[in-house]
Amino acid sequence: MSSDKSMFESGWLPPVQQQAPPGQQKGKLDPQPAIEHVPDGKGGSKLYQPAGKLKGKKAIITGGDSGIGQSTATLFAMEGADVLITYLPEEEVDAKETKSLVEKHGGKCYTLAVDLRDMKNCQKVIDEAMSKMGAINILFNNHAYQMMIEDIHDLSEEQWIKTFDTNIHPFFYLSKYALAHTSAGDTIINDASINAYIGRPDLLDYTCTKGAIVSLTRGLANQFAAKGIRCNQVAPGPVWTPLVASTMTPEALKQFTTPMGRPAQPSEIATCVVFLASTDSSMLTGETIHCNGGGFVTS
Ligand SMILES: NC(=O)c1ccc[n+]([C@@H]2O[C@H](COP(=O)([O-])OP(=O)(O)OC[C@H]3O[C@@H](n4cnc5c(N)ncnc54)[C@H](O)[C@@H]3O)[C@@H](O)[C@H]2O)c1
Repeated sequence: MSSDKSMFESGWLPPVQQQAPPGQQKGKLDPQPAIEHVPDGKGGSKLYQPAGKLKGKKAIITGGDSGIGQSTATLFAMEGADVLITYLPEEEVDAKETKSLVEKHGGKCYTLAVDLRDMKNCQKVIDEAMSKMGAINILFNNHAYQMMIEDIHDLSEEQWIKTFDTNIHPFFYLSKYALAHTSAGDTIINDASINAYIGRPDLLDYTCTKGAIVSLTRGLANQFAAKGIRCNQVAPGPVWTPLVASTMTPEALKQFTTPMGRPAQPSEIATCVVFLASTDSSMLTGETIHCNGGGFVTS
């Protein structure tokens, strides 16, 4: 570690490290990110304090094996929800960890290893959720792929297509198939990124898919507002997760911070997702929570 500071103190930076994508969290990410713990306001951490905000709710979380997805699954369970998580087959170790965290907090966790680039797998996710949980009250479209490329001339057409096939098309398929089973009070939450707003140059394809997600959130919100189904998004800045350790260059990792002097931990994004999933945010739809440590953007 570059300092002995707590992960929630200004000046904390993770050590530079690299993994092959999609990256593994358990036993590999150094240090392990904060999943169940949130800041205590004094630079340290405390266990997240639930308040029964999602009692009886049934949620789907894509990319729920690690990072923001794992923390959201855990906090959802603490708030009383059952979850179905999706992940890639090579992420079994992390998916098992999510399941054990959810069960530790009294929730049920169904796991499904699927590549969401295939629309049939997106239908399978919805069918499995209905068969195992009997309802879908919350859909958190959270999974993503990214790979840093500095120059458009080095960005292959194959990577461009892969990034769109992964990051945006499944958000449409899953939303469409899930909305066939939802009713007033249910919510969709999308994981966008600060990069859609700042136009990050070395993640051009990823940044464009995040821009499409912003528009999907707003369009769906407008289509379903009168029916009482809300659609919102989080737009995180830097967050310490396997995605980052497996796709960012050492140079980028050395600058992996925010105006608060540190990157976020997954739990600090998951608390925002809990808010958007619960009735605490009942008047919000088409909105964005810019959980980015002060990287002000125009939305
Ligand atoms: N970490 C950050 O700095 C950061 C910043 C802004 C936004 N985000 C967003 O947060 C979300 C979660 O990422 P994270 O940082 O927690 O990383 P993560 O590595 O924990 O999660 C990403 C997940 O995407 C899933 N995935 C990738 N390709 C897939 C495919 N083809 N089919 C199915 N699933 C696939 C994997 O299961 C993986 O676990 C992403 O949408 C990411 O863009 C992250």
